[in-house]
Amino acid sequence: MPYVRIQPDDHEAVGAAAEILEASRRLDDPTAPEVVRERYAGWLRYGWDLHPEEQFLLVPDGGGAPVGVLAVELPHRDNRHLVWAQITVRPDARRRGHGTAMAAEVLRRTREAGRTTIWMGCAADDAAAAAFLAGTGFHYASPDARRRQRLADVDPAEIARLRAGAEAAASDYELVRLTPPVPEELLAEIAVVAESINDAPMGDLTWEREVYDADLVRDIETAREGRGDRLYRVLARHRGTGVLGGHTMMVTDPVRPTWAFQGDTAVARGHRGHRLGLLLKIEMMAWLAEVEPQVQLVETWNQADNTHMIAVNEALGYRLDRVFHMYERQLDPAAQEQPAGELASV
Ligand SMILES: CC(C)(COP(=O)(O)OP(=O)(O)OC[C@H]1O[C@@H](n2cnc3c(N)ncnc32)[C@H](O)[C@@H]1OP(=O)(O)O)[C@@H](O)C(=O)NCCC(=O)NCCS
Repeated sequence: MPYVRIQPDDHEAVGAAAEILEASRRLDDPTAPEVVRERYAGWLRYGWDLHPEEQFLLVPDGGGAPVGVLAVELPHRDNRHLVWAQITVRPDARRRGHGTAMAAEVLRRTREAGRTTIWMGCAADDAAAAAFLAGTGFHYASPDARRRQRLADVDPAEIARLRAGAEAAASDYELVRLTPPVPEELLAEIAVVAESINDAPMGDLTWEREVYDADLVRDIETAREGRGDRLYRVLARHRGTGVLGGHTMMVTDPVRPTWAFQGDTAVARGHRGHRLGLLLKIEMMAWLAEVEPQVQLVETWNQADNTHMIAVNEALGYRLDRVFHMYERQLDPAAQEQPAGELASV
């Protein structure tokens, strides 16, 4: 079956893919935010850091409506052993081997790129996806938890109490609010503190620390802007030395104005133990209430064993929504010499 690359300005392909992804969301993950065509096109154009992943429609031989969407990301700055893939089959076209065909295509592309590790994820309670992944040679490697903070349910008195405690513990730090563009002279400093996210647990996944530099900080910001998001960042700066101790990011999106999405929160090693994580997030809540008062729900994702960050989130009123499992498959580098015919088999 042919794979048709989905280009961001190909309205027909973007529409067809967004329809499949939205039909799947309604069935497989109904509490997730709606898949909006223009946002999807923005993701295809800008990606996470101006290096968008490739996405394809799977079109049956001889034409007809596409039956699936395949997303294949090949990290380019680091983790060049890795392919991160996502397979979605249109709900009314499942159990006909299309998922298996796309998994074979992922394998083929992985080998073609000379990479050795593939990640694919699914909801932990999605028995179909888990059976599919196990059946295509993947093993479970790490849990992620999605939590939501319903702002109407948050007790302002409790937040004020937490803030007073955190301010006392972090009295050596000042908070700085920042909207894009980050001033040139701050980019490298932010990269250093943002790199601390690598200390978060990753379960049994095969990975290496992500490399953060000024260019990446700028590229992530530019990609967000291109996608139409509004980006807010709060920094904690040590008063005595002027060194950045931590940061947190929040994203809102005019297309889905009642949602906000928590980005990374990271506190650099030498600055931990001062309740900066809590303080940064409380400051972000206060800022969001001022500038985006229509936001009702804030979503955050954590690796499920990240107990410290999750404790902060729970204290702020975030509640577990759903757990997801990341699966991994290792390819034998020696098998790269196999003839093409065998590469398509899973
Ligand atoms: C998981 C998914 C990709 C499977 O697609 P599919 O086209 O139905 O998969 P296949 O027809 O190739 O099924 C292959 C095998 O997976 C397993 N499987 C798939 N669906 C299953 C189900 N509902 N119950 C039990 N096993 C299932 C079976 O072992 C199946 O083989 P069989 O049909 O011979 O018994 C599809 O359900 C989907 O798009 N889910 C939502 C997105 C998602 O979670 N993707 C996960 C990977 S990123």
